[in-house]
Amino acid sequence: MIYQIYPRSFLDTTGDGVGDLAGITARLDYLRWLGVDAIWVSPFFRSPMADFGYDISDYCDVDPVFGTLADADRLIAGAHDAGIRVLLDWVPNHTSDQHPWFVDSRSSRRASKRDWYYWRDGRRSGTPNNWRAAFGGPAWTFDDATGQWYLHLFLPQQPDLNWGNREVVHAMHEVLRFWLDRDVDGFRIDVVHLIGKDPALPDQPAELGSVDRVGIHDDPRTHGLLREIRRLVDSYPGERVIVGEVNLHDTSAIRTYYGAGDELHMAFNFLPLATPWAAGDWRQVIRVVERDLGRDAWPTWVLSNHDSRRHRTRLGGSEAVSRAAAVLLLTLRGTPFLFQGEELGLEDAVVSPERRVDPGGRDGCRTPIPWTATPTHGWPTVDPWLPWPPHAEARNVQRERADPGAILHLYRRLLAVRRTSPALRHGDITLLDAPAAVLAFRRSTHEDERVVLVNFGETEVEVHVDGRWDIVVSSDSAVDRWDGALRAGEAVILQPGAA
Ligand code: GLC
Repeated sequence: MIYQIYPRSFLDTTGDGVGDLAGITARLDYLRWLGVDAIWVSPFFRSPMADFGYDISDYCDVDPVFGTLADADRLIAGAHDAGIRVLLDWVPNHTSDQHPWFVDSRSSRRASKRDWYYWRDGRRSGTPNNWRAAFGGPAWTFDDATGQWYLHLFLPQQPDLNWGNREVVHAMHEVLRFWLDRDVDGFRIDVVHLIGKDPALPDQPAELGSVDRVGIHDDPRTHGLLREIRRLVDSYPGERVIVGEVNLHDTSAIRTYYGAGDELHMAFNFLPLATPWAAGDWRQVIRVVERDLGRDAWPTWVLSNHDSRRHRTRLGGSEAVSRAAAVLLLTLRGTPFLFQGEELGLEDAVVSPERRVDPGGRDGCRTPIPWTATPTHGWPTVDPWLPWPPHAEARNVQRERADPGAILHLYRRLLAVRRTSPALRHGDITLLDAPAAVLAFRRSTHEDERVVLVNFGETEVEVHVDGRWDIVVSSDSAVDRWDGALRAGEAVILQPGAA
């Protein structure tokens, strides 16, 4: 399981209301207790923070708000001592407009780095093509100084790098080397499907209307670039890993970014983020993932991240559903990603208009982690950069650790169970027949077997599973025995019973 840390909101140690790297290092014992295998830390590099770190002005330094390079080294070493691997968030598609590369590039048409970004003349209608940016508006901004437009698939402060220029490839490879040399275990690669582009930058078909480019861009040039990145990463000792954000809707398109085992180790698939909490929909998602990824592309599972509403909020807010979702997430075939705070059953905050800061409207899921029940929740200030999530007086690490019935203990138990079961870690998945409200599947290797049942309904339901089975974990803490029925909203893991 890979645990996503959004550093601004994990833990502040300096009193400025913003979380920092020392805050992560200070809580490695908690992550180890929980049973985390690896952390992915959202960007902490130097940044003007127009997109809260996804606009980078120096890839090889730590932003002062998060600490120093020495803090990064301490975090990496401390995590390794705790048996936790560290993935950084590498943003290759764009830099900040304050990055010295872009500052040079925009300075003149003859600047040495002019071609490191996409500069084009406008058409009579205005922009060089019809692409739209992810946060709204055209994907082009006109620059008065040199009379040309530059491309940005996100904010104007995030100009797209031109990966068709070999100097860019070289410079970005140096960034990977910089961090691999500091012993990181790999990277989560931001919107990696965007880096290859046809230099003609052709219009997208008019029938797509004003849909933004990010969800449809799929250029074959990206694959060659990814193979080079993979070779670089593989040239380092140990097991380094690259997980790419491929923001496409079609799982068979996502599949191509695994290449022939020579591109990404794993690609995110955001299908579950758009899947309602219903057995039939989940059966369908599992079928699609198994069919389209096949045997050689290892799946990923994501229910929440820093760009989406927390799944508890999205799925209606109930404790029972968030507990059953924990069982589902941690038993599917593939690597689960857990966004910080999911293990506490957190919901999104409703952020008042005066406190909203994100241009993409994503503040609600990014609120600070409450560590204690006190008014400052274990932070040095009562009033961090975003408000506390709802019910922080009860949903905090201190309270939940002390309550064996809390969802935090369910996550911990699930992670422990997963670690010791080859079937759950890497076994096959087979859907089983079950009543309409129930998702039932078997996970199996030749020597190990588990059955997972999830009742999406609001009434008790009987489920027949051939053979004798014992309960390993139930999402309902009052249940400790398998009697052939699931309670309303209950999810269980079963193991073969003693003969
Ligand atoms: C990815 C990140 C998102 C960011 C965007 C631009 O989708 O997850 O937070 O805004 O890329 O870098």
